[in-house]
Amino acid sequence: MACASFTKLNATSSQWIGQQSFGQRTGSSSVTRRVSLPIRAGSYTDELVKTAKTIASPGRGILAIDESNATCGKRLASIGLDNTETNRQAYRQLLLTTPGLGEYISGAILFEETLYQLTTDGKKFVDCLRDQNIVPGIKVDKGLVPLPGSNNESWCQGLDGLASRSAEYYNHGARFAKWRTVVSIPSGPSALAVKEAAWGLARYAAISQDNGLVPIVEPEILLDGDHSIERTLEVAEKVWSEVFFYLAENNVVFEGILLKPSMVTPGAEHKEKASPETVAKYTLTMLKRRVPPAVPGIMFLSGGQSEMEATLNLNAMNQAPNPWHVSFSYARALQNSVLKAWQGLPENVVAAQNSLLERAKANSLAQLGKYSAEGESDDAKKGMFVKGYTY
Ligand code: 13P
Repeated sequence: MACASFTKLNATSSQWIGQQSFGQRTGSSSVTRRVSLPIRAGSYTDELVKTAKTIASPGRGILAIDESNATCGKRLASIGLDNTETNRQAYRQLLLTTPGLGEYISGAILFEETLYQLTTDGKKFVDCLRDQNIVPGIKVDKGLVPLPGSNNESWCQGLDGLASRSAEYYNHGARFAKWRTVVSIPSGPSALAVKEAAWGLARYAAISQDNGLVPIVEPEILLDGDHSIERTLEVAEKVWSEVFFYLAENNVVFEGILLKPSMVTPGAEHKEKASPETVAKYTLTMLKRRVPPAVPGIMFLSGGQSEMEATLNLNAMNQAPNPWHVSFSYARALQNSVLKAWQGLPENVVAAQNSLLERAKANSLAQLGKYSAEGESDDAKKGMFVKGYTY
Protein backbone atom coordinates (compact mmCIF):
# COMPACT_ATOMS: atom_id res chain seq x y z
CA MET A 1 0.00 0.00 0.00
CA ALA A 2 1.59 3.31 -1.08
CA CYS A 3 -0.27 5.40 1.49
CA ALA A 4 -0.20 4.79 5.19
CA SER A 5 -3.72 5.97 5.85
CA PHE A 6 -6.90 6.47 3.97
CA THR A 7 -10.56 6.95 4.68
CA LYS A 8 -13.48 4.94 3.42
CA LEU A 9 -16.11 7.33 2.16
CA ASN A 10 -19.35 5.44 2.48
CA ALA A 11 -20.75 2.03 3.17
CA THR A 12 -21.90 1.17 -0.33
CA SER A 13 -18.83 2.09 -2.32
CA SER A 14 -15.24 1.29 -1.40
CA GLN A 15 -13.83 3.88 -3.78
CA TRP A 16 -11.08 6.08 -2.33
CA ILE A 17 -10.53 9.54 -3.71
CA GLY A 18 -7.71 12.08 -4.15
CA GLN A 19 -5.32 13.54 -1.60
CA GLN A 20 -7.29 16.44 -0.22
CA SER A 21 -9.18 17.64 2.81
CA PHE A 22 -12.86 18.32 2.60
CA GLY A 23 -15.76 19.15 4.87
CA GLN A 24 -18.45 16.51 5.32
CA ARG A 25 -21.70 16.90 7.23
CA THR A 26 -22.43 14.31 9.89
CA GLY A 27 -25.60 15.28 11.74
CA SER A 28 -25.26 18.91 12.75
CA SER A 29 -21.45 19.01 12.80
CA SER A 30 -19.03 19.36 9.93
CA VAL A 31 -15.87 17.18 10.11
CA THR A 32 -12.77 17.33 8.00
CA ARG A 33 -11.41 14.07 6.68
CA ARG A 34 -8.16 13.34 4.93
CA VAL A 35 -8.39 11.02 1.98
CA SER A 36 -5.51 9.78 -0.10
CA LEU A 37 -4.57 8.41 -3.50
CA PRO A 38 -4.49 5.73 -4.67
CA ILE A 39 -7.22 3.12 -4.38
CA ARG A 40 -4.77 0.29 -4.12
CA ALA A 41 -1.15 0.52 -5.14
CA GLY A 42 -0.29 -2.90 -6.48
CA SER A 43 3.21 -3.50 -7.76
CA TYR A 44 2.07 -2.86 -11.33
CA THR A 45 0.03 0.30 -10.83
CA ASP A 46 2.40 2.76 -12.56
CA GLU A 47 2.91 0.36 -15.44
CA LEU A 48 -0.83 -0.20 -15.86
CA VAL A 49 -1.48 3.52 -16.07
CA LYS A 50 1.29 3.90 -18.63
CA THR A 51 0.08 0.96 -20.74
CA ALA A 52 -3.49 2.26 -20.74
CA LYS A 53 -2.27 5.71 -21.82
CA THR A 54 -0.17 4.24 -24.63
CA ILE A 55 -3.17 2.35 -25.97
CA ALA A 56 -5.37 5.44 -25.62
CA SER A 57 -3.04 7.61 -27.67
CA PRO A 58 -4.32 10.20 -30.18
CA GLY A 59 -5.33 8.87 -33.59
CA ARG A 60 -4.91 5.23 -32.59
CA GLY A 61 -7.15 2.35 -31.54
CA ILE A 62 -7.22 -1.42 -31.16
CA LEU A 63 -7.23 -4.16 -33.77
CA ALA A 64 -9.25 -7.03 -32.29
CA ILE A 65 -8.23 -10.39 -33.75
CA ASP A 66 -8.96 -12.52 -30.71
CA GLU A 67 -11.50 -14.79 -32.37
CA SER A 68 -11.63 -18.22 -30.81
CA ASN A 69 -10.57 -20.99 -33.19
CA ALA A 70 -14.24 -21.69 -33.93
CA THR A 71 -15.01 -18.04 -34.80
CA CYS A 72 -11.80 -17.63 -36.79
CA GLY A 73 -12.97 -20.70 -38.70
CA LYS A 74 -16.12 -18.80 -39.69
CA ARG A 75 -14.04 -15.91 -41.01
CA LEU A 76 -11.89 -18.32 -43.03
CA ALA A 77 -14.94 -20.23 -44.28
CA SER A 78 -16.33 -16.95 -45.69
CA ILE A 79 -13.49 -17.06 -48.23
CA GLY A 80 -13.49 -20.83 -48.69
CA LEU A 81 -10.55 -21.73 -46.44
CA ASP A 82 -10.36 -24.63 -44.00
CA ASN A 83 -10.02 -23.90 -40.31
CA THR A 84 -6.45 -25.22 -39.88
CA GLU A 85 -3.70 -23.82 -37.66
CA THR A 86 -1.68 -23.02 -40.80
CA ASN A 87 -4.51 -20.95 -42.30
CA ARG A 88 -5.14 -19.13 -39.01
CA GLN A 89 -1.42 -18.37 -38.79
CA ALA A 90 -1.33 -17.12 -42.42
CA TYR A 91 -4.28 -14.82 -41.78
CA ARG A 92 -2.91 -13.43 -38.55
CA GLN A 93 0.53 -13.01 -40.11
CA LEU A 94 -1.00 -10.95 -42.90
CA LEU A 95 -2.69 -8.70 -40.33
CA LEU A 96 0.09 -8.34 -37.79
CA THR A 97 2.92 -7.75 -40.23
CA THR A 98 1.16 -4.98 -42.16
CA PRO A 99 3.81 -2.28 -42.69
CA GLY A 100 2.88 1.05 -41.10
CA LEU A 101 0.08 -0.40 -38.96
CA GLY A 102 1.44 1.16 -35.77
CA GLU A 103 0.58 4.62 -37.01
CA TYR A 104 -3.12 3.88 -36.52
CA ILE A 105 -3.18 0.88 -34.20
CA SER A 106 -1.96 1.06 -30.60
CA GLY A 107 -2.98 -2.40 -29.39
CA ALA A 108 -3.90 -5.79 -30.82
CA ILE A 109 -6.01 -8.34 -28.96
CA LEU A 110 -4.83 -11.87 -29.67
CA PHE A 111 -6.25 -15.31 -29.04
CA GLU A 112 -4.00 -17.56 -26.92
CA GLU A 113 -2.84 -19.52 -29.98
CA THR A 114 -1.52 -16.33 -31.63
CA LEU A 115 0.25 -15.10 -28.48
CA TYR A 116 2.46 -18.18 -28.59
CA GLN A 117 2.69 -18.41 -32.40
CA LEU A 118 5.53 -17.44 -34.74
CA THR A 119 5.45 -16.09 -38.27
CA THR A 120 6.50 -18.47 -41.04
CA ASP A 121 9.95 -16.80 -40.77
CA GLY A 122 10.17 -17.79 -37.12
CA LYS A 123 9.51 -14.40 -35.51
CA LYS A 124 7.16 -14.17 -32.54
CA PHE A 125 3.94 -12.31 -33.39
CA VAL A 126 4.39 -10.43 -30.14
CA ASP A 127 7.72 -9.09 -31.45
CA CYS A 128 6.12 -8.06 -34.76
CA LEU A 129 3.73 -5.94 -32.71
CA ARG A 130 6.38 -4.48 -30.43
CA ASP A 131 8.45 -3.42 -33.46
CA GLN A 132 5.52 -1.22 -34.51
CA ASN A 133 4.87 0.17 -31.01
CA ILE A 134 1.64 -1.86 -30.81
CA VAL A 135 0.83 -3.26 -27.37
CA PRO A 136 0.02 -7.01 -27.40
CA GLY A 137 -3.20 -8.00 -25.63
CA ILE A 138 -4.90 -11.30 -24.89
CA LYS A 139 -8.46 -12.56 -24.66
CA VAL A 140 -8.68 -14.26 -21.27
CA ASP A 141 -12.34 -15.21 -20.91
CA LYS A 142 -13.41 -18.77 -21.66
CA GLY A 143 -16.64 -17.92 -23.42
CA LEU A 144 -20.33 -17.82 -22.66
CA VAL A 145 -22.52 -20.55 -21.18
CA PRO A 146 -26.21 -20.60 -20.21
CA LEU A 147 -27.03 -18.84 -16.93
CA PRO A 148 -29.36 -21.05 -14.89
CA GLY A 149 -32.32 -19.21 -13.35
CA SER A 150 -32.35 -16.49 -16.01
CA ASN A 151 -34.41 -15.74 -19.14
CA ASN A 152 -32.23 -17.93 -21.36
CA GLU A 153 -29.34 -15.54 -20.79
CA SER A 154 -25.67 -16.35 -20.46
CA TRP A 155 -22.70 -15.76 -18.21
CA CYS A 156 -19.01 -15.63 -18.97
CA GLN A 157 -16.58 -18.26 -17.69
CA GLY A 158 -12.87 -17.97 -17.03
CA LEU A 159 -12.12 -16.85 -13.45
CA ASP A 160 -10.72 -20.24 -12.38
CA GLY A 161 -6.96 -20.19 -12.81
CA LEU A 162 -7.09 -16.66 -14.24
CA ALA A 163 -4.33 -15.30 -11.98
CA SER A 164 -1.78 -17.91 -13.07
CA ARG A 165 -2.81 -17.69 -16.72
CA SER A 166 -2.51 -13.89 -16.60
CA ALA A 167 0.97 -14.08 -15.06
CA GLU A 168 1.96 -16.47 -17.84
CA TYR A 169 0.50 -14.19 -20.54
CA TYR A 170 2.44 -11.27 -19.05
CA ASN A 171 5.64 -13.33 -19.27
CA HIS A 172 4.89 -13.96 -22.92
CA GLY A 173 4.58 -10.25 -23.64
CA ALA A 174 0.87 -9.46 -23.18
CA ARG A 175 0.23 -6.15 -21.44
CA PHE A 176 -3.53 -5.91 -21.60
CA ALA A 177 -6.47 -8.31 -21.44
CA LYS A 178 -10.00 -8.62 -22.68
CA TRP A 179 -13.06 -10.26 -21.16
CA ARG A 180 -16.26 -10.12 -23.14
CA THR A 181 -19.58 -10.85 -21.57
CA VAL A 182 -22.94 -10.08 -23.13
CA VAL A 183 -26.27 -8.62 -22.11
CA SER A 184 -29.38 -9.28 -24.20
CA ILE A 185 -32.11 -6.63 -24.27
CA PRO A 186 -34.87 -8.87 -25.71
CA SER A 187 -34.21 -11.39 -22.90
CA GLY A 188 -34.93 -8.79 -20.24
CA PRO A 189 -32.19 -8.36 -19.28
CA SER A 190 -32.77 -9.99 -15.90
CA ALA A 191 -31.30 -8.39 -12.77
CA LEU A 192 -29.41 -11.65 -12.24
CA ALA A 193 -27.75 -11.55 -15.67
CA VAL A 194 -26.69 -7.92 -15.28
CA LYS A 195 -25.30 -8.52 -11.79
CA GLU A 196 -23.42 -11.63 -12.89
CA ALA A 197 -21.96 -9.81 -15.91
CA ALA A 198 -20.83 -6.87 -13.76
CA TRP A 199 -19.39 -9.01 -10.97
CA GLY A 200 -17.49 -11.26 -13.37
CA LEU A 201 -16.00 -8.25 -15.16
CA ALA A 202 -14.95 -6.70 -11.87
CA ARG A 203 -13.28 -9.87 -10.55
CA TYR A 204 -11.49 -10.31 -13.86
CA ALA A 205 -10.36 -6.66 -13.85
CA ALA A 206 -8.90 -6.93 -10.35
CA ILE A 207 -7.08 -10.16 -11.19
CA SER A 208 -5.71 -8.71 -14.45
CA GLN A 209 -4.37 -5.63 -12.70
CA ASP A 210 -2.76 -7.78 -10.04
CA ASN A 211 -0.79 -9.50 -12.79
CA GLY A 212 0.24 -6.45 -14.81
CA LEU A 213 -2.46 -6.61 -17.49
CA VAL A 214 -4.69 -3.61 -18.24
CA PRO A 215 -8.22 -5.04 -18.30
CA ILE A 216 -10.56 -4.12 -21.13
CA VAL A 217 -13.99 -4.16 -19.55
CA GLU A 218 -16.54 -5.31 -22.13
CA PRO A 219 -20.16 -5.88 -21.27
CA GLU A 220 -21.43 -6.11 -24.83
CA ILE A 221 -25.06 -5.07 -25.06
CA LEU A 222 -26.11 -7.06 -28.09
CA LEU A 223 -27.67 -5.37 -31.12
CA ASP A 224 -30.29 -8.13 -31.35
CA GLY A 225 -33.89 -6.96 -30.98
CA ASP A 226 -36.42 -4.45 -32.28
CA HIS A 227 -36.18 -2.07 -29.31
CA SER A 228 -35.75 1.70 -29.54
CA ILE A 229 -32.58 3.67 -28.88
CA GLU A 230 -34.17 4.97 -25.65
CA ARG A 231 -34.48 1.40 -24.40
CA THR A 232 -30.83 0.72 -25.23
CA LEU A 233 -29.85 3.85 -23.30
CA GLU A 234 -31.83 2.70 -20.28
CA VAL A 235 -30.24 -0.77 -20.29
CA ALA A 236 -26.74 0.58 -20.95
CA GLU A 237 -27.02 2.98 -18.01
CA LYS A 238 -28.11 0.15 -15.73
CA VAL A 239 -25.34 -2.16 -16.90
CA TRP A 240 -22.56 0.41 -16.58
CA SER A 241 -23.73 1.58 -13.17
CA GLU A 242 -23.49 -2.00 -11.88
CA VAL A 243 -20.14 -2.53 -13.58
CA PHE A 244 -18.64 0.56 -11.93
CA PHE A 245 -20.18 -0.33 -8.58
CA TYR A 246 -18.46 -3.71 -8.59
CA LEU A 247 -15.21 -2.38 -10.08
CA ALA A 248 -15.05 -0.03 -7.10
CA GLU A 249 -15.98 -2.84 -4.68
CA ASN A 250 -13.04 -4.83 -6.07
CA ASN A 251 -10.64 -1.87 -5.67
CA VAL A 252 -9.87 -1.72 -9.36
CA VAL A 253 -7.65 1.23 -10.32
CA PHE A 254 -9.79 3.19 -12.78
CA GLU A 255 -6.75 4.90 -14.32
CA GLY A 256 -5.51 1.46 -15.37
CA ILE A 257 -8.54 0.09 -17.23
CA LEU A 258 -10.05 0.55 -20.69
CA LEU A 259 -13.71 0.14 -21.60
CA LYS A 260 -15.15 -1.60 -24.60
CA PRO A 261 -18.80 -0.59 -24.78
CA SER A 262 -21.39 -1.11 -27.48
CA MET A 263 -22.56 2.12 -29.03
CA VAL A 264 -26.06 3.14 -27.99
CA THR A 265 -28.16 2.38 -31.08
CA PRO A 266 -31.67 1.06 -31.73
CA GLY A 267 -31.95 -2.75 -31.92
CA ALA A 268 -30.88 -4.21 -35.28
CA GLU A 269 -34.50 -5.06 -36.10
CA HIS A 270 -35.95 -1.70 -35.07
CA LYS A 271 -37.97 -0.01 -37.82
CA GLU A 272 -35.74 3.05 -37.99
CA LYS A 273 -32.00 3.44 -38.17
CA ALA A 274 -30.32 6.19 -36.15
CA SER A 275 -28.01 8.75 -37.74
CA PRO A 276 -24.39 8.99 -36.56
CA GLU A 277 -25.28 12.25 -34.76
CA THR A 278 -28.08 10.53 -32.84
CA VAL A 279 -25.91 7.52 -31.96
CA ALA A 280 -23.18 9.89 -30.77
CA LYS A 281 -25.63 11.93 -28.69
CA TYR A 282 -27.13 8.91 -26.91
CA THR A 283 -23.82 7.13 -26.47
CA LEU A 284 -22.02 10.15 -25.04
CA THR A 285 -24.98 10.91 -22.77
CA MET A 286 -24.77 7.41 -21.37
CA LEU A 287 -20.99 7.54 -20.94
CA LYS A 288 -21.00 10.98 -19.30
CA ARG A 289 -23.61 9.80 -16.82
CA ARG A 290 -21.78 6.61 -15.93
CA VAL A 291 -18.03 6.72 -16.65
CA PRO A 292 -15.63 8.65 -14.39
CA PRO A 293 -13.07 10.84 -16.18
CA ALA A 294 -10.29 8.86 -14.44
CA VAL A 295 -10.85 6.14 -17.07
CA PRO A 296 -8.33 6.84 -19.85
CA GLY A 297 -10.00 5.25 -22.85
CA ILE A 298 -13.29 4.14 -24.34
CA MET A 299 -12.61 1.67 -27.16
CA PHE A 300 -15.86 0.77 -28.88
CA LEU A 301 -16.73 -2.61 -30.36
CA SER A 302 -18.40 -2.64 -33.79
CA GLY A 303 -21.03 -5.27 -32.93
CA GLY A 304 -22.19 -6.06 -36.48
CA GLN A 305 -22.35 -2.50 -37.84
CA SER A 306 -20.93 -2.02 -41.32
CA GLU A 307 -17.34 -0.84 -41.52
CA MET A 308 -18.46 2.61 -42.65
CA GLU A 309 -21.23 2.93 -40.06
CA ALA A 310 -18.84 2.07 -37.21
CA THR A 311 -16.38 4.68 -38.50
CA LEU A 312 -19.03 7.37 -39.04
CA ASN A 313 -20.45 6.85 -35.56
CA LEU A 314 -17.00 7.10 -33.99
CA ASN A 315 -16.29 10.24 -35.97
CA ALA A 316 -19.54 11.82 -34.75
CA MET A 317 -18.51 11.15 -31.15
CA ASN A 318 -15.25 13.01 -31.65
CA GLN A 319 -16.64 16.31 -32.91
CA ALA A 320 -16.00 17.92 -29.51
CA PRO A 321 -13.49 17.08 -26.77
CA ASN A 322 -14.47 14.21 -24.44
CA PRO A 323 -13.26 13.47 -20.91
CA TRP A 324 -11.69 10.23 -22.19
CA HIS A 325 -9.95 9.08 -25.37
CA VAL A 326 -12.85 7.84 -27.52
CA SER A 327 -11.67 5.28 -30.03
CA PHE A 328 -12.16 1.83 -31.55
CA SER A 329 -11.46 -1.81 -30.79
CA TYR A 330 -13.05 -3.36 -33.83
CA ALA A 331 -12.92 -6.91 -35.07
CA ARG A 332 -15.56 -7.26 -37.78
CA ALA A 333 -15.38 -3.59 -38.84
CA LEU A 334 -11.62 -3.85 -39.44
CA GLN A 335 -11.45 -7.32 -40.95
CA ASN A 336 -14.30 -7.61 -43.41
CA SER A 337 -12.71 -5.87 -46.42
CA VAL A 338 -9.34 -7.45 -45.63
CA LEU A 339 -10.73 -10.98 -45.92
CA LYS A 340 -12.45 -10.12 -49.18
CA ALA A 341 -9.25 -8.68 -50.62
CA TRP A 342 -7.16 -11.63 -49.47
CA GLN A 343 -9.26 -14.66 -50.55
CA GLY A 344 -6.51 -16.86 -49.08
CA LEU A 345 -4.12 -16.17 -51.98
CA PRO A 346 -0.45 -15.25 -51.39
CA GLU A 347 -0.52 -12.87 -54.35
CA ASN A 348 -3.31 -10.86 -52.63
CA VAL A 349 -1.50 -10.33 -49.32
CA VAL A 350 -0.29 -6.83 -50.16
CA ALA A 351 -3.74 -5.76 -51.37
CA ALA A 352 -5.30 -7.18 -48.19
CA GLN A 353 -2.76 -5.34 -46.01
CA ASN A 354 -3.52 -2.12 -47.89
CA SER A 355 -7.18 -2.70 -47.19
CA LEU A 356 -6.44 -3.08 -43.46
CA LEU A 357 -4.38 0.11 -43.51
CA GLU A 358 -7.21 1.93 -45.26
CA ARG A 359 -9.76 0.91 -42.60
CA ALA A 360 -7.32 1.58 -39.76
CA LYS A 361 -6.58 5.02 -41.18
CA ALA A 362 -10.29 5.82 -41.58
CA ASN A 363 -10.86 4.95 -37.91
CA SER A 364 -7.77 6.88 -36.88
CA LEU A 365 -9.25 9.94 -38.59
CA ALA A 366 -12.58 9.23 -36.88
CA GLN A 367 -10.79 9.14 -33.52
CA LEU A 368 -9.60 12.65 -34.33
CA GLY A 369 -13.06 13.67 -35.61
CA LYS A 370 -11.74 14.23 -39.13
CA TYR A 371 -13.18 11.34 -41.14
CA SER A 372 -15.17 11.81 -44.33
CA ALA A 373 -16.95 8.84 -45.90
CA GLU A 374 -16.23 10.10 -49.40
CA GLY A 375 -15.08 7.34 -51.75
CA GLU A 376 -15.92 4.44 -49.41
CA SER A 377 -16.53 1.15 -51.24
CA ASP A 378 -19.86 -0.68 -51.34
CA ASP A 379 -18.35 -3.46 -49.23
CA ALA A 380 -17.56 -0.97 -46.46
CA LYS A 381 -21.25 -0.03 -46.39
CA LYS A 382 -22.54 -3.58 -45.91
CA GLY A 383 -23.88 -4.40 -42.44
CA MET A 384 -22.43 -7.46 -40.71
CA PHE A 385 -25.09 -8.06 -38.10
CA VAL A 386 -25.72 -11.75 -37.40
CA LYS A 387 -28.58 -12.67 -35.10
CA GLY A 388 -27.36 -14.51 -31.98
CA TYR A 389 -23.71 -13.90 -32.97
CA THR A 390 -21.15 -15.74 -30.87
CA TYR A 391 -17.57 -14.58 -30.63
P1 13P B 1 -16.66 -6.63 -33.05
O1 13P B 1 -17.99 -6.44 -32.41
O2 13P B 1 -16.02 -5.31 -33.44
O3 13P B 1 -16.67 -7.60 -34.17
O4 13P B 1 -15.69 -7.26 -31.95
C1 13P B 1 -16.09 -7.60 -30.70
C2 13P B 1 -14.98 -8.02 -29.84
O5 13P B 1 -15.17 -8.18 -28.66
C3 13P B 1 -13.62 -8.22 -30.40
O6 13P B 1 -12.63 -8.29 -29.41
